[in-house]
Amino acid sequence: MQYGYFDDKKREYVITRPDTPWPWINYLGCGDFFGLFSNTSGGYCFFRDARMLRLTRYRYNNVPQDSGGRYFYLRDNAGNSADSQSVDNKSSDIWTPSWKPMKSELDRYECCHGMGYSRISSARNGLAFTQVSFVPLEDTCEIHKITLTNESKKDKNIDIFSFVEFCLWNANDDMTNFQRNFSIGEVEVHGSAIYHKTEYRERRNHYAVWSVNVPVTGFDTDRESFLGLYNGFDRPDAVFAGKANNSIASGWAPIGSHHIKARLAPGESKTYVFVLGYCENPEDQKWEKRADYGVPGVINKAPSDALLKKYSSPEAADKALADLNKYWDDLLSRFTVEAEDKKMARMAGVWNQYQCMVTFNMSRSASYFESGIGRGMGFRDSNQDLLGFVHLVPERARSRILDIAATQFPDGSAYHQYQPLTKRGNNEVGGGFNDDPLWLICGVAAYIKETGDYSILEESVPFDNNESLADSLFIHLKRSFDYTITHTGPHGLPLIGRADWNDCLNLNCFSSTPGESFQTTANFESGVAESVLIAAIFAFVGPDYVEICLRTGQQEEAERAQKAIASMIDTVNKHGWDGNWFLRAYDAHGKKIGSNECEDGKIFIESNGFAVMAGIGLDDGRAKKALDSVKEHLDTPYGIVLQQPAYREYHLELGEISSYPPGYKENSGIFCHNNPWVTIAETMLGRGGRAFETYKNICPAYREDDSQLRRLEPYVYAQMVAGKDAARFGEAKNSWLTGTAAWTFVSISQYILGVRPVFDGLLINPCIPPDMKGYSITRYFRGADYHITVDNSAGVEKGVKSIMLDGQHLKACAEGIYAGSYVLPIFGDGKVHKVDVVMG
Ligand code: GLC
Ligand code: GLC
Repeated sequence: MQYGYFDDKKREYVITRPDTPWPWINYLGCGDFFGLFSNTSGGYCFFRDARMLRLTRYRYNNVPQDSGGRYFYLRDNAGNSADSQSVDNKSSDIWTPSWKPMKSELDRYECCHGMGYSRISSARNGLAFTQVSFVPLEDTCEIHKITLTNESKKDKNIDIFSFVEFCLWNANDDMTNFQRNFSIGEVEVHGSAIYHKTEYRERRNHYAVWSVNVPVTGFDTDRESFLGLYNGFDRPDAVFAGKANNSIASGWAPIGSHHIKARLAPGESKTYVFVLGYCENPEDQKWEKRADYGVPGVINKAPSDALLKKYSSPEAADKALADLNKYWDDLLSRFTVEAEDKKMARMAGVWNQYQCMVTFNMSRSASYFESGIGRGMGFRDSNQDLLGFVHLVPERARSRILDIAATQFPDGSAYHQYQPLTKRGNNEVGGGFNDDPLWLICGVAAYIKETGDYSILEESVPFDNNESLADSLFIHLKRSFDYTITHTGPHGLPLIGRADWNDCLNLNCFSSTPGESFQTTANFESGVAESVLIAAIFAFVGPDYVEICLRTGQQEEAERAQKAIASMIDTVNKHGWDGNWFLRAYDAHGKKIGSNECEDGKIFIESNGFAVMAGIGLDDGRAKKALDSVKEHLDTPYGIVLQQPAYREYHLELGEISSYPPGYKENSGIFCHNNPWVTIAETMLGRGGRAFETYKNICPAYREDDSQLRRLEPYVYAQMVAGKDAARFGEAKNSWLTGTAAWTFVSISQYILGVRPVFDGLLINPCIPPDMKGYSITRYFRGADYHITVDNSAGVEKGVKSIMLDGQHLKACAEGIYAGSYVLPIFGDGKVHKVDVVMG
């Protein structure tokens, strides 16, 4: 069953009923200000950091689901005149046009999630409602443009009540520290503008404003006055009374509600622009009037005045939305796909890239599965997120790389996470995740391949956020590389530390205390547990490090690195092969993990995907054997599970992986992030059909009509789909913030459709199902546009027969690392270049 459909022309997902199997959300904002926005106008917004600077409150894991948002209540006063003071409750009709929170019956409903904006349209009893919500490119606010249209034949006399509930900025404190919070809430009201200024009197120099571009009849800023102490959002006293209380919050729970009266003749429309903004003042200009005895201070409203003035008309809001549309048109014009397979085309060309922008912005902080108060930015995650983002806004990727690298320790290891506001590493989590350093090489290599900007390597970057320890970014890469080879175990494989990519393979944890963190507890520093996956990652990213050395004139270092890689591959061959697939790891006692010898957890996906990606076993049949084993033991119609058999019991020596019930998360769930590694690996074997099958199985657009089971948004990837051991096999969890976004974009764009940025140009090497007859791609790359058409009338899976570039035959590279491959040269001339690829 479907709950909506893709509108490919508009790049929107159109949700056609409000009671989706889980709130289906969108993200507003792509710079400093962000909003999470559900299909029923639920969610919240924040400035830069969802934990520290949150403007509106949200109740997670609450009943009913998705409580809190930017709500509008409508009250149709039937026969009463607009200025009538006597409101007859019986003849008036009250509803929420976004369905929630009243779950109102609507004559029609639609929510379109687009690129950085959402639009809810509904109607009830002859009154049409439209809400267009977005964050303008240049300002730190949400705009909600509301239009009411009288579609009936009679005059309508409507009350509009807006509603947002303010968060007292620090979202963690807001949910816990009531003894303080209930006394500190402060607001100001000035005309139609409601200012939330809690803690402004002391150490904050920012406030929130919630305003509308028309005069209001009344307002409320105190939650209890508006709702009634024992009411939910679905039954606000003020709305049912038809009259705001003009309440001024003092402590308790500050909110913002406007009361507007609208009289609409038949056919008439009225539009209102609501702005929810974040404003800052310089420390010495905080006050318009300082506090006095018995008189609170008056905040300096210069920034909010400017903001509200800017968006004081519907035309101004429309202009800002048009600018946002243009921004996304430009971004997505960098990589477009046309193909017969519309599902693939819309995912690769639009939604997958859109999700990459969101993961770049949010890392793993704020979603409907991540509270925004937990994790900061991950070292490993953020580096991988770059892979799917760097072609969109390379300059932002560049500064992100420098931020991440600054949290590296001098020995090459890294803080596992850092806070976006301070950009400093998190002490509570610390380091010791031994795959982390290698992802920096991976991210930097992707950046250089996209841009050709080697100057980034010369940037001076602190270690441990300490300027006095700064060195060039190149040296950071060197330390990353060396960390792996200097931290090896008994078999010569890299030590795993607290975990590798799999956060839950905690081989030195040995935790028997409930609630203890599996990631930060080390009850047994074995110095023995080793990871085959880290070895494979090393073998995959190592060659990029070698190339970077060569291209910066460091021949000797390149040779040294090359030897280290060869020796690591040797070690994997000796100690990382189990007969039919690659091993996963050795535990703290030196016992194999991911071996046929094991009772549970005999075979894992990660090491097999990555080892083949690194080219290990390609020459002697083991790569094929490994991927065949993956298919045989781990494959399902919804994707490839992480390992089999699932752990039935908790294993002290394995940690969190064995803590999950079988079929969920890292214990045999379909952990989508690693599926594209197998996709890429399959393309290395030239098996285009199988590669595409692994791509499709986890791709949400292909499961749109299965939404009741899958439950989550059909337009974005989820971190996990329950595996075959789970009761709810096929049900997805944790949509949006997952490395799946970046890696699937890499797999489809670079390895299946085969347009891959490399150091010297765009390498063309498609690997597709034989029945895919062709497709076309436009790719912006280093200052020029490449219009590429691929003709597979030959019906092959891999192999380029010829390429015509601007009407001339292109020769395959004769030598170097791309020998035998076709690489489109870098033009950088701002022109369009026509590329005709014939497979065969
Ligand atoms: C989560 C983490 C990521 C980790 C993965 C597997 O997605 O954010 O860092 O690699 O889980 O455990
Ligand atoms: C990753 C894993 C999750 C684990 C977490 C710990 O997100 O997916 O299972 O609990 O890391 O930080």
